[in-house]
Amino acid sequence: MTSFPHSRLRRLRGSDSIRNMARETRLSVKEFVYPLFVGHGHGVKEAIEPMPGQYQMSLDVLSEEIGEAAELGVPAVLLFGLPAEKDPLGTEGYDPEGIVQEAVRMIKKDHPDMMVITDVCMCEYTDHGHCGVIANDRVDNDQTLELLGKTAVSHVQAGADLPAPSAMMDGQVWAIRQALNDHGYEDTPIMGYAAKYSSGFYGPFRVAANSTPKFGDRKSYQMDPANARMAMREIEADIAEGADIVMVKPALSYLDVIRQAKDRFDLPLAAYNVSGEYSMIKAAAANGWIDEKTVTMEVLTSIKRAGADTILTYHAKEVAKWLKEAE
Ligand code: PBG
Repeated sequence: MTSFPHSRLRRLRGSDSIRNMARETRLSVKEFVYPLFVGHGHGVKEAIEPMPGQYQMSLDVLSEEIGEAAELGVPAVLLFGLPAEKDPLGTEGYDPEGIVQEAVRMIKKDHPDMMVITDVCMCEYTDHGHCGVIANDRVDNDQTLELLGKTAVSHVQAGADLPAPSAMMDGQVWAIRQALNDHGYEDTPIMGYAAKYSSGFYGPFRVAANSTPKFGDRKSYQMDPANARMAMREIEADIAEGADIVMVKPALSYLDVIRQAKDRFDLPLAAYNVSGEYSMIKAAAANGWIDEKTVTMEVLTSIKRAGADTILTYHAKEVAKWLKEAE
């Protein structure tokens, strides 16, 4: 029996080298995705107040930012678009000349090795701020599907590698899979925001993307934070509809959901370390209440330990730097 005094777990903690040997989870820059906000104009680099270090950028500034990320080894970015105008049907979202489509073309020209993931949703483009088409005062699921399919096709036609539907409409992965296949993109994978909760942690993002719903909330389509079994059904549904990668979002308050998904499904699993999780660290660190690097690394390590293969995080660049320094 290995119990005290034969066993002493502190033996494995006595030095850096032994701690290294005993370490179960290691972060690597290769598993990070860096989310970015792109808008119209030239030379625009507008600070997003609740997300220190993050900006709304025009294409030229975005290209520089992606150059820096690439230099640090960040392999993938996730794009969110800030349209010139919003309207009830979110038309810039699926305009072949829309801002995200332009950004994808620019990135593929300037940084051909950078993987480009695109958020496929309507809330950034609709004047009412909901993630789909409004009919009879509610978000109409099936009318939205067609537009999500169109959006994904326009992204892929521009050169996107991996469309990621986040609207939480039933059948969105199926609709996008059909639309991509119809246009000859059978080999383009889809990352489903499968278990996406109706979360207060998206608050800072909605400032960044100016996408707060003008009436009501997203509870009729995004998940209830109280549910984990339903998350498994959401993930199952995405897989059945043809998702190649599935996601849990947010990450930090849903580590149990990440772990359950990892134990249950064999697809690559992504977790989204969302805006509010980022803002909390930045705010506490700015006040001198926590050590920023220690807490950031601890949070990201916990997400990976819970089972995430890929982590979407606004910390991507800074963590890449810290990992490089530690080499
Ligand atoms: C679009 C979308 C949102 C986020 C990612 N895609 C906002 C929302 O659902 O309200 C949030 C990301 C973040 O908070 O970092 N539907």
